[in-house]
Amino acid sequence: MEELEKLKLELKQLNSEYAKIKEIPAEKRGEFGREMNAKKTAILEKIQQAEMAALDAEVTPIDITAPTAPNEDIPEVYSTFDGSKHPLMEELDRVVEIYQLMGFDVMEARQLDDEFHMFDSLNFAKEHPARDGYDTFRTEEGLIPPAHTSTMQHRVLKAYKNRLDEGKEIAVVVPGRVHRNEDVDATHEHTFYQCEGVFVSKDATFAQMLGVLKNFFEAYYGQDLKIKTQPGYFPFTEPSIELLIEKPKSLGGKGDGWLEMLGCGMIHPNVLKMAGINPDEYKGFAWGGGIDRLVMLKYQLNDIRYFESAKLDFLEEF
Ligand code: DAH
Repeated sequence: MEELEKLKLELKQLNSEYAKIKEIPAEKRGEFGREMNAKKTAILEKIQQAEMAALDAEVTPIDITAPTAPNEDIPEVYSTFDGSKHPLMEELDRVVEIYQLMGFDVMEARQLDDEFHMFDSLNFAKEHPARDGYDTFRTEEGLIPPAHTSTMQHRVLKAYKNRLDEGKEIAVVVPGRVHRNEDVDATHEHTFYQCEGVFVSKDATFAQMLGVLKNFFEAYYGQDLKIKTQPGYFPFTEPSIELLIEKPKSLGGKGDGWLEMLGCGMIHPNVLKMAGINPDEYKGFAWGGGIDRLVMLKYQLNDIRYFESAKLDFLEEF
């Protein structure tokens, strides 16, 4: 029999012996009681020791200094996967890098802007229907999550104006997140990314603009590309142009399709004037286009909604 069980039996017998006290003469009962109690205490102590020993035997000692090995019994709470950059951010970096190599500075866009930068500073006439064309969201305070990165044009012109005074040109790109309150489908998102470009010098020309943009698209897609223009309308450029590239064969094109990639044009004299730049002395061109569309073409994706969808299986492919 196990030591512990023997002791427990002893204790039980001892407890039953207490009853004998009745048969003992009254004057000896005190002594009997003390003896019994001493025996009981001794047995209880032994039981306690035996219990501790049994407990020790159950626990396997662990070496807390040993290197940890994967243990299949323990659920993996923390993944060892570090995550990765969102494909759009990866491509946005690439876009900015190409412009930087061409000599452009970078200014980051805002996530919240105002009526002045969204419309007034861009030569949108008050109450002009073109304001509605941008489907802007508005906060209760009347602020606007920018609907295009052009909201930064006025800030760029003012911040870099001194470069013109120094005899240099303004050459800045502005990547940013933009929002439009429109129906979402495979080609329209309420949240997407754009990159704006602003160039001002004494003799900036339309031809220079086309050169910069052609170089950009060729660098981004890594191949020669044909471009063409079609008329557009933006209150902040005159003339206003939409730039198209011919869908290259290597990107699934069959030599028959033109893709509208961005809006651009010569900066309207009023926009320069509002930033304190004399339009008789300086000329500029500006452009702005979606990053999502650029990336969709590169990877031949057909649904813009994947980008904001938190679809991990999609994101992990990059
Ligand atoms: N902001 C325009 C849009 O999102 C695109 C654009 C057109 C930007 C002409 C420009 C520009 O800088 O000059 O529709």
